[in-house]
Amino acid sequence: MWKWYVGFIRGVSVDGLGKTGVVLTTSAFVSFVIFEFTMLTGISSNAYAGLVSYLALPALFVVGLVLIFWAWMRQKRTTGLSTRELIERQFEQSATRMSFLGSRVMRTVMMFTLANVFFLSLASSRMLSFMDEPEFCGTACHSVMHPEWATYQDSPHARVACVDCHVGEGVDALVDSKLNGMWQMVSVTFGLYEQPIPTPVHQLRPARETCEKCHWPTKFYGSRVEQYVRYADDSVSTPSYTTLSLKVDTGKAATGGGIHWHVAEANEVRYASVDDKREEMIWVEARQADGSFIRYENQRLFHEHGDSEDIRSVDCVDCHNRATHVYEDPKLAVDERLLLGLLPGEIPFIKREAVTALTGSYADSVAAMVGIENQLIGFYRVNYPGVLVRQAELLDSAVNVLRDVYRRNVHHSMNVTWGAYPDFRGHDGCFRCHNENMLAEDGTPISHDCTMCHSIAAYDSETPFEFLLPPDTSSPTATMHQFLRKEYFESLNAAVGRQ
Ligand code: HEC
Ligand code: HEC
Ligand code: HEC
Ligand code: HEC
Ligand code: HEC
Repeated sequence: MWKWYVGFIRGVSVDGLGKTGVVLTTSAFVSFVIFEFTMLTGISSNAYAGLVSYLALPALFVVGLVLIFWAWMRQKRTTGLSTRELIERQFEQSATRMSFLGSRVMRTVMMFTLANVFFLSLASSRMLSFMDEPEFCGTACHSVMHPEWATYQDSPHARVACVDCHVGEGVDALVDSKLNGMWQMVSVTFGLYEQPIPTPVHQLRPARETCEKCHWPTKFYGSRVEQYVRYADDSVSTPSYTTLSLKVDTGKAATGGGIHWHVAEANEVRYASVDDKREEMIWVEARQADGSFIRYENQRLFHEHGDSEDIRSVDCVDCHNRATHVYEDPKLAVDERLLLGLLPGEIPFIKREAVTALTGSYADSVAAMVGIENQLIGFYRVNYPGVLVRQAELLDSAVNVLRDVYRRNVHHSMNVTWGAYPDFRGHDGCFRCHNENMLAEDGTPISHDCTMCHSIAAYDSETPFEFLLPPDTSSPTATMHQFLRKEYFESLNAAVGRQ
């Protein structure tokens, strides 16, 4: 058998070119098997190894096959022999003798062809699924995807594949994304991409096809209590509490819903914005029960910019544009680390100094790692030498925590600094439309009451549920307190009633 195989290979490679082809094909095949073994067993899971094994090796394999074929054609041309004559010249007589099942050479060629087709389809299906893995999307292009990869790994969607949000399902989506991917490879190779990568992403699949596979509008009901603990810049970093009951309900009727009312099956909200950033709205329209649209025009922008052709319907991403790539605000990041006990609250001025260290201007990430330490330790050396002596360990671990925060959020290689990407989920996003400049034809403003989107149980208060306690009637804020308290319980009750 082995002898026959070697004889066959020798016969197939008619000249130097053919031999090169055989060597290429065989070594590509063998290397592929070895690579695949290391990938499957987990010895290697590197994106580059994947690129080599799923893109380069099958390509070499095909090049080898083409060379073998080409050598045959060339041989035929130069010798003037027919295919049959050439076969007879290259192989032993016994192998070319025709039998009921064709000659032995023919059978071997058929067998190899089948094996090749099988191998190539296996390799390409492995390649497609490999390219769908977050590891590939996040690391194959080196530093380009670094900000997205870093934020993704630390997000509620860390186990959702990039392609589940960015590509969607179906052949169209696949072809689109591969074409787009080829352009991205070119732009990475020649450094044509923008830094930071611009947002919004136009190729993002419609939210109906992606987000709604896992979260859908009828699943949002009732309210959700969210508590924020903020620390002051004073020496003891005094905490204060804001507690909101976010009215995330979609609602069942045309009105009477909460935050997810915009994406209820029956509703549509559309808008025109000044530019592609979707940060300033010229007008916004909401579909009414009778199918007509009520329009609110931004009195400040409408006259200046007039109408716009670029109209978009609100979907999940108009608010959750940072669903996964969540960049932190430096102050809030420090608050969170203090709350979790990762930063030592007992150290004087830790809140203020941590923020100062994080927001210093540093040339690159290496300089930042050194700079953060110098800034923080420097402050205590000058102002609180005692702290530096007694609590050196705490300060060291604080430095490391701050370095991690910095590395997660700031990416010099891509020009991603604090605040590079806007977040539309809070007031910045909502007030693009819900502001007093947005007026309907009859002059009524779009709704923007403080308790429309959330009930307020505490607002920069000393205790987390301040407004839920009975008010102190002598206090100047007693009326507001009483109002918020009543509103909180009423809206909770209404939400329970809706379910
Ligand atoms: C849960 C869904 C989801 C997942 C998973 C996801 N993304 Fe995104 N991605 C988004 C959304 C939403 C945006 C913002 C789009 C917009 O504003 O139009 C975005 C934006 C981006 C951007 C543009 C820059 C920016 O931050 O706006 C890049 C690049 C990107 N994603 C890459 C990735 C990579 C790489 C992965 C996997 C490691 C990934 N994404 C995983 C939803 C997702
Ligand atoms: C493959 C399923 C899947 C897809 C697709 C998906 N998500 Fe999620 N999402 C999840 C899971 C799982 C969680 C985590 C739930 C938890 O932590 O309780 C989550 C959490 C969230 C949260 C809550 C985050 C928080 O901080 O608690 C939001 C908001 C969200 N997703 C929005 C989106 C948006 C917007 C999209 C589309 C761009 C999307 N999701 C696509 C599965 C998905
Ligand atoms: C008008 C803005 C807006 C739109 C549109 C919107 N959301 Fe939300 N969503 C919010 C806000 C605000 C919250 C509450 C804050 C938070 O938890 O992130 C929220 C909360 C959530 C949560 C947390 C779950 C919960 O019950 O608290 C998920 C999941 C979510 N949204 C997914 C989606 C999906 C999927 C879509 C599209 C079908 C969508 N959202 C459309 C603003 C919006
Ligand atoms: C693109 C414009 C736009 C954005 C952005 C937007 N909204 Fe709205 N929203 C509307 C319109 C239009 C209405 C209906 C008009 C009205 O009620 O005055 C509405 C209505 C609402 C309602 C009342 C629903 C009902 O039952 O009538 C709530 C609650 C709400 N929005 C919350 C939010 C929150 C929270 C955000 C930010 C996370 C947000 N909206 C962002 C346009 C927007
Ligand atoms: C259109 C909806 C809407 C309106 C109107 C609105 N808010 Fe909010 N508010 C939100 C959303 C959404 C968040 C962010 C929730 C989150 O980030 O989880 C928020 C957050 C807050 C916070 C916490 C902010 C923080 O990070 O500490 C406070 C305090 C607050 N709102 C007070 C108010 C007051 C006071 C008003 C009236 C002037 C008001 N809101 C009007 C939607 C609204």
